[in-house]
Formats: sequence, C-alpha cells, structure tokens
Amino acid sequence: MTTSFDDIDVLSELAHLAASCTRCRLAEGRTHVVFGAGAHDAEVMIVGEGPGQQEDEQGLPFVGRSGQLLTKFLEAIGYGRDEVSICNILKCRPPDNRNPAPDEILACSGYLASQISMLQPKAILSVGGVAATTLLETGQSVGKLRGEVHDFGESRIPLVVTYHPAYLLRNEAEKPSAWKDLQLAMKLLDEARRAPE
Ligand code: URA
Repeated sequence: MTTSFDDIDVLSELAHLAASCTRCRLAEGRTHVVFGAGAHDAEVMIVGEGPGQQEDEQGLPFVGRSGQLLTKFLEAIGYGRDEVSICNILKCRPPDNRNPAPDEILACSGYLASQISMLQPKAILSVGGVAATTLLETGQSVGKLRGEVHDFGESRIPLVVTYHPAYLLRNEAEKPSAWKDLQLAMKLLDEARRAPE
C-alpha cells in the first residue's frame, strides 16, 4: 500500500496542527514541535523517544550526535535519511532530556498513530526503550525484545526493536547487536517487497 496524495495532505495538516499543540506541559518549554521528517512514501519508519536539545532547536528529529549515528547505520544498510520516515513517541522535548511521563506519552499518542496509519510502512524500527515499551505496550527491556519480529497494531506491521543510538554511543559493545537488528529489518523489507500487494 502506498501513501495517497490525500494522506499526504492530512499529514501536512496534522503537522500544522501539532505545531501549536498544547495537549501537555511540554508545550511550555519547547522551541519547536518536532513532528517528524522523511519521505511520505517511506517503506521504513524509525521511531525514537523524543527530541533532544538540537532537535528542539532545529525542529527536526535525530539531528544531534545520536542522529549522526542513526544516519551512519541507515547508510550502512543502503538508506539515505530522506528515504525513510523518522519520528518520535514525543513531539516536544522534555526538560533536561528527562524521561517522558506517561501522561505526556498519552497526550502525544494520536500524532504517531496517525503518522503510522497514513504512511503504512512495510517495517518499523523502534529505537530505545521508550519507543519499544510504548509501541508494544509492554514492560520488557530492549535486550529482551530485540532479535525477533513483533507485530504492530491491527495492520500487524512488522516491528524490530533495537537499542537507542544514544545508548550505543555509551555502550560500544552493543553495536554489533544493533547491526544484527538492522539486518533483520532489511530481511523483512526484502520479504515485504517480494510479497504481492
Ligand atoms: N533521541 C530521540 O529519541 N529522538 C530524537 O529525535 C533525538 C534524540
């Protein structure tokens, strides 16, 4: 399934609405709402936790140090940043990069749900614990969830869990595991491309 022009219009309208969102307290401290970036017909959607300082300043997801590592990983599997869709669980930066509060995640959830349902990616790569536990509605750790293919939502979009690039920057030893996760995501995409629409 591809994204229609109508869906693109709805997504643009939603991004416009989100830009003045006041659904939770994070609206008070943000510089920009970071709605997401990338291709409207992307096959892969990357879902992270929430904007950090640089993302808040620039209004774009994953542009800081974590983002640079994510970009390298994507390039290693043959994707440019603009060929995938990149979004976060939270669209606004929590103060001092603290963990998102449950009510903030809930307040923001409709935006990501709409992004996923409009884009209908062939695979989702969930990076970090907040994204994994939110998307899969589980309390399990990334270490437990990674290495297998999960189903997301009613349309059962294949979802692979991996470590957050910020974690990998602090824990180099886990990089080979993240690499395996990306290869698993690639395998899914190959399978999805071969399957009839
Ligand atoms: N970390 C995230 O989870 N998302 C970003 O956009 C940046 C850093």
